Amino acid sequence: MNNSGINEKIHRHNVPTIFAIFGVTGDLAQKKIFPALIDLYQKKLLPEKFAVVGIARRDISREDFQKFVRDAVLKKKTYDESILVSFLEHVQYSQGNFDVSETYINSQKLFDSIDAGWGQCSNKLFYLSVPPVLYELILNHLADSGLSVPCDDMNGWTRILIEKPFGKDVETAQKLDILLGTLFKEEQVYRIDHYLEKQTLQNILAFRFSNTLFEPLWNRKHIESVDIKLFESNTAKGRGVFYDDNGALRDVGQNHLLQMLALIAMEQPKDLHCSSVRKERARVFTYLQKYTKKSIKTGVVRAQYNGFRDEEGVAKDSDTETFFSLVARIKNRRWRGVPFRLTSGKALKESRVEIIINFKDATKGSFMPMQHEMQEHNKLTISIQPEEKIAILFWVKVPGFEHKIEPKELYFSYHEDASVHIDAYEKVLFDCIAGDQTSFINTAEVKSSWKFIMSVKDNLRHIPLHKYHIGDNPEDIMSLSNNL
Ligand code: BG6
Repeated sequence: MNNSGINEKIHRHNVPTIFAIFGVTGDLAQKKIFPALIDLYQKKLLPEKFAVVGIARRDISREDFQKFVRDAVLKKKTYDESILVSFLEHVQYSQGNFDVSETYINSQKLFDSIDAGWGQCSNKLFYLSVPPVLYELILNHLADSGLSVPCDDMNGWTRILIEKPFGKDVETAQKLDILLGTLFKEEQVYRIDHYLEKQTLQNILAFRFSNTLFEPLWNRKHIESVDIKLFESNTAKGRGVFYDDNGALRDVGQNHLLQMLALIAMEQPKDLHCSSVRKERARVFTYLQKYTKKSIKTGVVRAQYNGFRDEEGVAKDSDTETFFSLVARIKNRRWRGVPFRLTSGKALKESRVEIIINFKDATKGSFMPMQHEMQEHNKLTISIQPEEKIAILFWVKVPGFEHKIEPKELYFSYHEDASVHIDAYEKVLFDCIAGDQTSFINTAEVKSSWKFIMSVKDNLRHIPLHKYHIGDNPEDIMSLSNNL
């Protein structure tokens, strides 16, 4: 985005806004939403007039809630006391159960009093930071109570932010979409995949389409394979019920990993408009070859860490995967024959998120021998976590008298300038206030990504569930199977 783009967004931002957050006492609100809000506030990227209204069951006072928010943001980093105090002045609380109308009536009263203080009808952003089973209930109440109705055509928009997982399969996702479609207009609905808001991932399209260097090579003729990895060292502890119900494929496969694949594999959108970008992302998923009972035996590995069944909320005989590795094949002219390997798991040796583009071997028949026998090819690594960097591995002549080549790395790192760090959730909120849906998922993406993932999920029973130790190396887990 150029400066005028940012200024325009900030301008669109500067309308009084209420952030109504359902499920404020949950993990996501504490770890991501409040820290993102205070960071945006510190960067002066929130509207001058704003209120954060927490809505939850717990019976606590406004002061206690402010203390709760203070503790949550301080767990992540320190802030000047003056920033903290002034941010917390914007924080309010509305207690209530999500299944009774009074909760919504009380929230409406609070919103009305805030608006009266501002002398203006404010924008309302409803963030559903709750387990997906509660979506339908809350959405229906929001619509029935009139809370989600904008003040008029020009003022006081209302928007809904919905967390993943968006449904559990094609049918439930479609059902949720139909409900959303009857209650809201599509431009009010923001389906979050926070990976799309990570800086290094947002850089992929710029990198691919602004450099003449890569686009000509970005196809089956020059690329041998693509590896997409989301490795986590944390276990499912504390999220047993959710995780046992979903597994790694639903938790991160259907969304984060497939969205990374889309950014690498999509065609250049005709422009940067939200609809053009989302259309191209969605199109990639329609080319994904579905798995069958037969093909799953040669493309997918699943495993579970020892001790998963002892986590609170997990069934003693659970066969939920906490690790998977699968080969995705894209049946179009650009990518036919190029395996995209998606691998993810919990309780692994390290936390690392990266995409590796392996180019075809140019050293075969090279006019110079390699210094050592190496397996390396030219490769491009896009690191998302823990570093945010792009590195290119290429071959150079070894300096000196010898006629040999060795691999070297060229890289660019976002971390060299700490001031550019923006957390994905800051961008989620920023874009939602600005009305930019580009980095949010549309219905076509939801549908076709579920179709592919369910072709895997439905056939998992035909392959063994391997076991691994907490802290194992992903490569070792993959080698437990001869499926890949
Ligand atoms: C969430 C998943 O969507 O993404 C978690 O539910 C996962 O299981 C998390 O840990 C990873 O996100 P990040 O930004 O920490 O890499």
